[in-house]
Amino acid sequence: MAVWRKLWSTNLLAASLLFYILLNAMDVHARPANMSTAKDKSAASKDDNEILPADHLNGVKLELDGHLNKDFHQEVFLGKEIEEFDEDSEPRRNRKKLIEIFTKVDFNKDKSVSAKEMQRWIMEKTDEHYQEALVENKNSFRAVDPDGDGRVTWDEYRVKFLASKGFNEKEVAEKIKKNEDLKLDEETQEVLESLKDRWYQADSPPSDQLLNEQEFLSFLHPEHSRGMLQYMVKEIVRDLDQDGDKKLTLSEFISLPVGTVENQKAQDIDDDWVRERRKEFEEVIDSNHDGIITMEELEEYMDPMNEHNALNEAKQMIAVADENQNNSLELDEILKYSQYFTGSKLMDYARNVHEEF
Ligand SMILES: *[C@@H]1O[C@H](CO)[C@@H](O)[C@H](O)[C@H]1NC(C)=O
Ligand SMILES: *[C@@H]1O[C@H](CO)[C@@H](O)[C@H](O)[C@H]1NC(C)=O
Repeated sequence: MAVWRKLWSTNLLAASLLFYILLNAMDVHARPANMSTAKDKSAASKDDNEILPADHLNGVKLELDGHLNKDFHQEVFLGKEIEEFDEDSEPRRNRKKLIEIFTKVDFNKDKSVSAKEMQRWIMEKTDEHYQEALVENKNSFRAVDPDGDGRVTWDEYRVKFLASKGFNEKEVAEKIKKNEDLKLDEETQEVLESLKDRWYQADSPPSDQLLNEQEFLSFLHPEHSRGMLQYMVKEIVRDLDQDGDKKLTLSEFISLPVGTVENQKAQDIDDDWVRERRKEFEEVIDSNHDGIITMEELEEYMDPMNEHNALNEAKQMIAVADENQNNSLELDEILKYSQYFTGSKLMDYARNVHEEF
């Protein structure tokens, strides 16, 4: 249970962490301290061949550990350019880029971005993330398939995984060949079992116990395959579901996954966490508003290629910055809300807006 969270949980709110510490109610086991470094590392080393499924998927609304993806709207607004915007980059440059983006989103060139235009843009940017995943997957697959025969067995992958965790690759390979005990610690063993489940899930029928490049993509990027999306949803529900009915109530959804009394206390104080999740539950995920999230609703919600979601997201984005309330965005509104759209702030946002056209 909750294995993904253990190794790859990343987006735990800093606030929650702080409360855990303050209340001295830490479930250290479930929340290793190393997680944020792990994430920074994987984000920074994009060229490395990632052979492990990530907890975070660009353009998907929930992390695999059940946390909301805080960067979602920036990811679908910026596409692959998301890495170009950061706090440190030069404001003039960011401003120029944002203006460029605006003119592209404004498809009919009327200097105003409608919800339809934004939706279309979001779909385009989502596809950009998909194309990136395809390219990265090519490299990752090469790393797990050194002999290049286009097929990888679970044992081959298992060796690469353990090597990435610091085990001696040759030794492990030898032991597996001889069917010897690998003497793994409990946590690694658990992760391995969870990976194995996912591995065989990605082996699309007729199953041959091997993954080809396409199947490996499903393994690393479940969001782009219907069957894997369902699998991912099942895992998330299983981790958050407390009464085992395979559905989520609001209280289950806003609980931190490890349901101890201490966690409950930590989270009651952490209002923002609760407020955001409640809002997302009530306004977006629970689409028929019956107070229950079903697997189908969650699947719909997490599907990055869903046009209905994209339109919702477009409307939400517009609502945030639509100061003159005409249901569309003009350049000055986008510049003013630069922090929201790009994650980086602009000073003197409105200066010379009109000169630049
Ligand atoms: C934390 O990460 C460092 C470097 O990645 C590693 O050497 C260390 O063993 C990790 N500590 C824990 C507790 O996992
Ligand atoms: C929204 O308002 C701005 C400023 O009044 C205007 O220039 C723009 O054309 C309007 N857009 C639409 C779609 O009505």
